[in-house]
Amino acid sequence: MEGITEPCFRDLVLARNPALALGGAYTEFVRVVDLALPVWKLREHLGPNRFETPVGLQLMGSDLGALAATAERAVQAGAPLIDLNFGCPAKGAIADCSGSGMLRDPSRLERTVRAVADALPGFPVTAKIRAGFDDDRQLADLARAAEAGGAALLTVHCRTRKEAYCEEVDWTRIARAVRAVSIPVCGNGSVIVHADLERMRRETGAQFAMVGRGALADPWVFSGHAATVREAAEFLLEYAQVLAELHGAKLAGRAARVKQLLRYWTAADLLGPDRASWLRESDPARLFERLGAAGGLEPRTSSSPSPA
Ligand SMILES: Cc1cc2nc3c(=O)[nH]c(=O)nc-3n(C[C@H](O)[C@H](O)[C@H](O)COP(=O)(O)O)c2cc1C
Repeated sequence: MEGITEPCFRDLVLARNPALALGGAYTEFVRVVDLALPVWKLREHLGPNRFETPVGLQLMGSDLGALAATAERAVQAGAPLIDLNFGCPAKGAIADCSGSGMLRDPSRLERTVRAVADALPGFPVTAKIRAGFDDDRQLADLARAAEAGGAALLTVHCRTRKEAYCEEVDWTRIARAVRAVSIPVCGNGSVIVHADLERMRRETGAQFAMVGRGALADPWVFSGHAATVREAAEFLLEYAQVLAELHGAKLAGRAARVKQLLRYWTAADLLGPDRASWLRESDPARLFERLGAAGGLEPRTSSSPSPA
């Protein structure tokens, strides 16, 4: 997820969920405009992966040449999978006819997948769509377009672009996509707790289920481990510490990243009933102290490991 699931966060999640529980992950989208991105940049997004779990690189763009050339470089950078984003609802993406902008035109989506798949014969190129742009009437066409373009797997986020991140979701749309194609489908949308992973697959026939914000709320959602308050606090403090160690993030920057997670966090009910008071906490050092105290940890910590 853009701006959140960068390599530091992902590494902590992968460390807590064995490959059997978490079959694969993707980077946040990497925007491709009109030039191929350099290998070093793509490596940065992939980060070092110390686990067996494959981490694919997601690209978003509408310039077919630049996308295909970037995909080739992503493979050089070590990506085991390339995913194409046809779901981002941001205005910029739509104006550029990339992301969810592509949902208005299945044949263009097909050409985009084909451009990348043809550049990488035999290499798994996957696609992620939403159920449609304004409505879901073209869902089956969009799914078939991705398949016809050469996608090896299709992820279907069951909301339309118009529905953004609405609470109500309709998983029957995922089932419709499953019926429309013969490639494996990965269902996505409102998998909140561990049991939802199996329920989504059972109810939709999708071979895989993808977790979005649920993983920000509970990084153990894939394995189903019920984290203790201590483990929950340790996760957040370790995240801050890794951000300092690897990126030299300053105290305020680390607190801001941790707060991004606190907006969603549910694991071990660490925050108690007053999430707002955590989000209002304007003193970064105090935020980390509070987390340590809530987790029953010795006062140390994340305010200390690096330059403020
Ligand atoms: C802050 C944020 C950033 C996101 N960034 C991406 C992204 O880079 N690529 C992508 O495919 N989806 C992205 N998404 C969408 C999620 O991957 C997922 O499809 C969506 O949140 C629905 O799943 P959920 O209901 O489980 O959260 C993002 C969502 C959010 C909330």
